[in-house]
Amino acid sequence: MTNSLLDLKFLTRVQLEKVFFLAREIKRAPLKPEFLGQTAALLFFEPSTRTRLSFESACVRAGLGPLVFQGGAGTSMEKGESLEDTLMNVAAMKPAVIVLRAGDDFHLSQVARELSMPILNAGWGRYGHPTQALLDLFTIHERKSLEGLKILFVGDIAHSRVAASHFEILPLFNAQVGICGPESLLPKESNFRKFSTLREGLSWADAVVCLRYQLERHDSGGKDLKQEIRQSYAFTKEMLPKLPKDTLILHPGPVNQSVEMDAEVYRDERSLILDQVSHGVWLREALLRLLLKGDWV
Ligand code: CP
Repeated sequence: MTNSLLDLKFLTRVQLEKVFFLAREIKRAPLKPEFLGQTAALLFFEPSTRTRLSFESACVRAGLGPLVFQGGAGTSMEKGESLEDTLMNVAAMKPAVIVLRAGDDFHLSQVARELSMPILNAGWGRYGHPTQALLDLFTIHERKSLEGLKILFVGDIAHSRVAASHFEILPLFNAQVGICGPESLLPKESNFRKFSTLREGLSWADAVVCLRYQLERHDSGGKDLKQEIRQSYAFTKEMLPKLPKDTLILHPGPVNQSVEMDAEVYRDERSLILDQVSHGVWLREALLRLLLKGDWV
């Protein structure tokens, strides 16, 4: 389905400018609901707080009735119905759009080809989380130019779908990418600039994106990587005094404050973590409006 958003590989500057422009309009003043009487299916086969609720909020604001499915509990999946059958049954109810979160083993591209309505990837295994990368960049763009941006990713980068989506779109702005984390949690092959200490990376970056340790996505091979992140790669309060005053701090959430980031960093005036959440609503509303009108080309 052409109006789907599965990844950011082929996104153009025009599309990006369109969605940022509309998100900014929505931020300034609410728009009229456009899709009254239509529904959006929000199918979350993995846990979520921010993405699910911000899509739900975006749907309501755009006039779409959200049909929310969270996990298997309380649904017929408890009686053995498969994820694929669940999806096909929901699609048979003819929602205007399906917003979907699923694990690595889900065949997202194939499913999107089979269904007639647009599909939005709301987090797919370790492969991608395009709307999160878009809202992150929107958040940065509200403060500084994306052109030539020096952006540092810290922590469990190899298993982060958020980082994966960023890596698809950052070349559009000639951004310079820095990475910092335990060797086994870094991308295997990349031209990214590697920092062995977070302090070094922080003195280089315009924006830093801290990432959660994705314990659920891999086997640490007996190593205590969580402890290694805490000891060597955590963004601690002691690093704040030397951080340049215009460096932007981001985290897609959920934040493990006792692991990758101190509470003082989360609450620092340079932290945009809660702005990211607000922007998630506006950006997703803008995206739904453009996609459903076939206006995102
Ligand atoms: N950033 C993000 O995807 O958060 P949730 O898992 O809470 O949706």
